[in-house]
Amino acid sequence: MNTTSSGFVFSVPYEIAVVRPLRQTTPADREAALRAAYFNTELIPQDLIYIDLSTDSGVSSLSTTQLGAMAAPSKIEPGMGLASEGSRSYALLAEQVQRVFGFPYFVATPQGRAAERIWTKIHIRPNTFVIGNLLFPSTRVHIEMNGAKIIEAVDDAAYDLVSNEPFKGNLDLKKLETAINEKGSDHISCIYIELGDNASGGHPVSLANLRAVKEVAAGRKLPVFFDACRILENSYLLKERELSCHDRTILEIVRETCELADGCTLSALKNFLVLSGGLILTREQSTYQKAMMQAFLDGAQLTGSAMDQLAIALGDIFACDSYVQSRVEQVRYLWQRLEGRLPVVRPAAGHAVFIDVKAFLPDFKSEDFPMEALAAFLYQYAGIRVTKGPPLGPSQVARGIELLRLAVPPRKYLNRHLDDVAEALMYCYDRRSEIKPLKRVEQPGRGKYDPAHFAMI
Ligand code: F0G
Repeated sequence: MNTTSSGFVFSVPYEIAVVRPLRQTTPADREAALRAAYFNTELIPQDLIYIDLSTDSGVSSLSTTQLGAMAAPSKIEPGMGLASEGSRSYALLAEQVQRVFGFPYFVATPQGRAAERIWTKIHIRPNTFVIGNLLFPSTRVHIEMNGAKIIEAVDDAAYDLVSNEPFKGNLDLKKLETAINEKGSDHISCIYIELGDNASGGHPVSLANLRAVKEVAAGRKLPVFFDACRILENSYLLKERELSCHDRTILEIVRETCELADGCTLSALKNFLVLSGGLILTREQSTYQKAMMQAFLDGAQLTGSAMDQLAIALGDIFACDSYVQSRVEQVRYLWQRLEGRLPVVRPAAGHAVFIDVKAFLPDFKSEDFPMEALAAFLYQYAGIRVTKGPPLGPSQVARGIELLRLAVPPRKYLNRHLDDVAEALMYCYDRRSEIKPLKRVEQPGRGKYDPAHFAMI
């Protein structure tokens, strides 16, 4: 419904100002591209892709204001060095960051992983534990590199791919308390929670759950940190699903969520419509000073022009709630087109639609690389790229869960693009018996972290 007490609300609060024409590939082009890429869709050149759902990170369209700021001579300043706080760009960004997230201090980095690297260096003690939901691989790696182990204490609903449980990103409070009791608070560095939890299917964490976690943590003097990359989608889903949020604006929910954290790291490339940028948000001046110095030493500071982009995007996003609404509803549109036709993770979530690959290809074994085989089949048919994406959490892998992520880039595609995705996937599902297993090809000189090469069996 577009009519509210304040009148008619625009469904999509922008129009398309700049477009990039796409090359029309033929089935023969795509077959050649797949073979050249060793059946790994990650390795297919961008100009041979029709619709790219490999990530929602750093791939959104820029606004005319952002493009204008890139070219404005007054904005050309490095914004780096020990006194970057003094730059015009930092001041502009500070105003927006404080208004939106409410933290008194922040450090801007080029990406989320740089923010995590600095944050974990400061907060993670060796031989301790971190309790979390299903954390993103970059967060996990940084925690582990600092010598701590992760305890995945997510609600069991996250492992149930078909239930309609609304908050599958929630922490299980019993698991949390048991872990604290077993390990002892002194041996726990922090509680780290990813909002709009990617590995669980992009599902939200409720405010009630965050409040309860905060209460447990405060009793044990444990800090609570959020990975807030997808706080906007999390907030929108709370507005819809959590009673106390129904009448709040997205900005109010974001602020209220942030009040429950002692600190946050985030990649601004997802929700905040920029091509580069990460944030550390903290309440402590001493932590801020350490993080600033570490960013300086690591060469992990954000340029002035990228800070401008982020400041402008934060202004645009919160100018009205219909941006976040149109974003989440577009993802839901794709989910609704697929649900009931092929096995998608339920319910609809914030940034992506996830396919339950085991249910899609029940005859495949893990060693047949079902995710990669389905991705290759889809590309061959329609030029649509999906990739295996970020690895799932260890507790999901242990349960044999295999998901293929259709990450919808914000502010990029029309619903008609998503119709093509839905139709192509239904075609693949109807012909799933034709999908061929893959085998991994080992080649001299290729390390285990290089993108894998496959051959068709
Ligand atoms: N946290 C989450 C939840 C993420 O999804 C990502 C990146 C990061 C941290 C790291 O941020 O890329 O700016 O360094 N996610 C991308 C994705 C890569 O496709 O989901 P980064």
